[in-house]
Amino acid sequence: MIEVRGLTKRFHSPRVVTAVDDVSFRCEAGAIFGLLGPNGAGKTTTLRMLATLLAPDEGTATLSGCEVRQDPTGVRGSIGYVSTTTGLYGRLTAREMITYFARLQGVTEPRRRSDELVERFGIGPFAHVRCDRLSTGMRQKVSIARAVVHDPPILILDEPTSGLDVMVARSFLEFVEQARDEGRCVLFSTHIMSEAERLCDRVAILHQGRILADDTLPALREASGHRYLEDIFVHFVQTARDEDA
Ligand SMILES: Nc1ncnc2c1ncn2[C@@H]1O[C@H](COP(=O)(O)OP(=O)(O)OP(=O)(O)O)[C@@H](O)[C@H]1O
Ligand SMILES: [Mg+2]
Repeated sequence: MIEVRGLTKRFHSPRVVTAVDDVSFRCEAGAIFGLLGPNGAGKTTTLRMLATLLAPDEGTATLSGCEVRQDPTGVRGSIGYVSTTTGLYGRLTAREMITYFARLQGVTEPRRRSDELVERFGIGPFAHVRCDRLSTGMRQKVSIARAVVHDPPILILDEPTSGLDVMVARSFLEFVEQARDEGRCVLFSTHIMSEAERLCDRVAILHQGRILADDTLPALREASGHRYLEDIFVHFVQTARDEDA
């Protein structure tokens, strides 16, 4: 459902950084793919290119058959993207925000869909509050509801549970598992290893824009000689750092 080949992105200010360096991977329908990596590894840059918010310098990314540069509109129609910097309009209430996005995405009954999502994500108690007055976790719930308003087959989530309390994070993880069971493809980044361990069918570890490992958890355990994802992660990143030094 997602096929990435040779994806590369350089930034030129203040100095040249190859944020994403010849990255290739595949994510299947009905599976959860986790993108891990230290701060600055290139996770957000990769996800932003897949969400058509940033143009790649090289390489291709095809989502549900649509290539990001050739058919960005097609890509946007098949993905729900949740970023760490939530693009909510401060002056709209939570409910208005969701209804507005439902209209933008051409959902047939935007109000009904909005009511459904308000209920699904427990937004009811603050549905009437302006987005610029919501707490971090409340904003995140609205962002997630907004992202899935058109029922997309692909979810791209950048640190979706950061800032969420334990209860909310847990119900969000259940939502992701349900999405997978419905046959959706989920690609997400996280720093929370237990979350990736619980959810992921496949994990890629990114370091300085390059993929160090991309495999199932059992295969990563085998390759690293460690049981827990936290140790596996440290193993790969530390080995790469030692080689760079
Ligand atoms: N707009 C930009 N202009 C210049 N450099 C950028 C820009 N966006 C990202 N970078 C650089 O690209 C690299 C990768 O950043 P990115 O945000 O993709 O990392 P990340 O893996 O998401 O990190 P984190 O875990 O901290 O969120 C970093 O060196 C960052 O400074
Ligand atoms: Mg990031």
